[in-house]
Amino acid sequence: MTALNERVHVMSTNESSPTPWDEVRVISHAHEEFDDQACVVVNMVTLELIELDEVGRSMWTALRETSSVDKTVSRLLEEFDAEAEQLQSDVRRFTEDLRSLGLVEGDIQPVPTSAQASRDLRARYLDLTERALLGLLYKAPENGPQGPDVDSLLAGYAVNHGLRSMPGFTMIGFPRLRNVRALAEYVMNEQIPGDFVETGVWRGGATIMMKAVLEAHEDPQRRVWVCDSFEGLPVPDIERYPDDAFWAKSAGKIAVSLDDVRENFAAFGLLDDRVEFLQGWFSDTMPTAPIHQIALLRLDGDLHQSTTEVLESLYAKVTPGGFVIIDDYCIDTCRAAVEEFRAKHHITAELQVIDWSAVFWQVPVI
Ligand SMILES: C[S@@+](CC[C@H](N)C(=O)[O-])C[C@H]1O[C@@H](n2cnc3c(N)ncnc32)[C@H](O)[C@@H]1O
Repeated sequence: MTALNERVHVMSTNESSPTPWDEVRVISHAHEEFDDQACVVVNMVTLELIELDEVGRSMWTALRETSSVDKTVSRLLEEFDAEAEQLQSDVRRFTEDLRSLGLVEGDIQPVPTSAQASRDLRARYLDLTERALLGLLYKAPENGPQGPDVDSLLAGYAVNHGLRSMPGFTMIGFPRLRNVRALAEYVMNEQIPGDFVETGVWRGGATIMMKAVLEAHEDPQRRVWVCDSFEGLPVPDIERYPDDAFWAKSAGKIAVSLDDVRENFAAFGLLDDRVEFLQGWFSDTMPTAPIHQIALLRLDGDLHQSTTEVLESLYAKVTPGGFVIIDDYCIDTCRAAVEEFRAKHHITAELQVIDWSAVFWQVPVI
């Protein structure tokens, strides 16, 4: 999973004129241990190591023997049935990993190519979208007019951050928004099929980021499902979920209407018929949700009940290799729901920490 937040640059193969970053030297204090299937390479100075599978082993051996990224790609193309561009990307990513462990040296300077230029533009578009969604583009004047209404549940956040109102289109903050983008890009790059879903969207920011990633990758097919009551938090069902009593006073809070969320998508130029709005309480909408396959499922409904209802209905639709993000793992009610569900369904996939609040896991490929 270390590669998830990495930005991947794809370089063009050019046998006749090696690019400046093409030359890579394996350090002399690299220790290798091979067995039939795999290989471990240790940096004997720092004792950091990398375990390599069959493909990794071939990449390592070719890099060591050729001292060249391009020649490694050419050699692997003879060995494996793979796309040249994808292999370029994989070898480069692998080389960056080795370099971060101090196992190879070399000036790995990306050379602008048209493929890379368009990837840079994609990254810049998503960077800008990210800043706009987080409300970082415009600084309200000190004594300016009050922004959109601050719900009492959010007032604390705004005050703590020295703000007059909640800014932006999402309350999840930078690390979690970056995680949405990174996982969405990962499933695109790895071609893991399925739609993107968020349950509990508030102003829609995280789902707008999902759609921006689809747009940036020119995806013609996947849908983004925007699921919410659009009437705020529910009246908790305390008989079934006693710990949700905590939320009793919050019923109806943080409501944002469907029209407002739709307008937010339109403001980013991202509203089209592949944005699907599923309006209603999860207890009503989830069991019959017309969603067939999910690559990215993001839960942000706070309550025990809201989390359980989504997991019970949607988890089975997540493609192996796809991801489940739990925004509110820091909240007792949500964490209890996740732990119960994982125990009941014997899910042992490792929980990866995003920040103080959120975690995610990858649905295992069986
Ligand atoms: C914390 S906010 C979501 C924040 C949002 N993900 C963002 O990016 O800012 C929680 C949302 O969950 C919705 N919600 C919670 N429980 C629900 C339920 N049982 N049914 C429908 N909507 C629910 C609320 O209406 C609210 O919009």
